[in-house]
Amino acid sequence: MTQTSKLFVLGIVGSPRRSGNTETLVDKILNGAEEAGAYIEKVILNKLEIKPCQACNSCYKTGNCAQDDDMPVLLKKMEKSEIWVLGTPIYWWGPTAQFKAFLDRWYHPKHKEFNKKRVILVIPLGGGHERYARHTVGMFEDIFNYLSINLLEKILAPGFDKRGEVRNNPELLKRAYDAGKNSVENIIK
Ligand SMILES: Cc1cc2nc3c(=O)[nH]c(=O)nc-3n(C[C@H](O)[C@H](O)[C@H](O)COP(=O)(O)O)c2cc1C
Repeated sequence: MTQTSKLFVLGIVGSPRRSGNTETLVDKILNGAEEAGAYIEKVILNKLEIKPCQACNSCYKTGNCAQDDDMPVLLKKMEKSEIWVLGTPIYWWGPTAQFKAFLDRWYHPKHKEFNKKRVILVIPLGGGHERYARHTVGMFEDIFNYLSINLLEKILAPGFDKRGEVRNNPELLKRAYDAGKNSVENIIK
């Protein structure tokens, strides 16, 4: 199989902390997807310039966002990938600022092309219970419902605060790896 004919899985990391809990889990999912035969790529939002939406509606009027930044390149990657692995830690009951700025930029006529994309969601949080992620999970579920995006799996990781602490939890790592592998196998089988 050539690289271009492979299924494309895109990981998008919303934490600014490198090798943190979000990136570790996204990496595991991508490893599983690659093992199943997918072409994988990872994007660190904090390394990109993604400016906040200005609500100018330029995207609806002209088809192009008025901002000059890295979002068009990321949108292209999103369009050509079948599965998105979206990861953000909980910051103040919500996603990180980097992730929210990215999400607001989905306000674009192109969001119609997100229809039928598949998502694996990764949400680590320092608090010891999944309920602290409920607003963020609810936000994602409503957005995916609105855009007809298929949420394949939610990997919530409560009780992890130190950088990369999830690496001490083999069960969670396996769940992430299996989610990536199964998501690809279920499409190509
Ligand atoms: C600015 C900030 C706000 C946070 N707010 C919350 C919160 O509201 N609830 C919570 O459970 N954890 C909160 N945390 C903890 C992170 O969710 C936790 O450390 C997570 O594992 C970070 O993931 P990372 O390693 O991928 O960066 C916060 C951390 C930071 C830095």
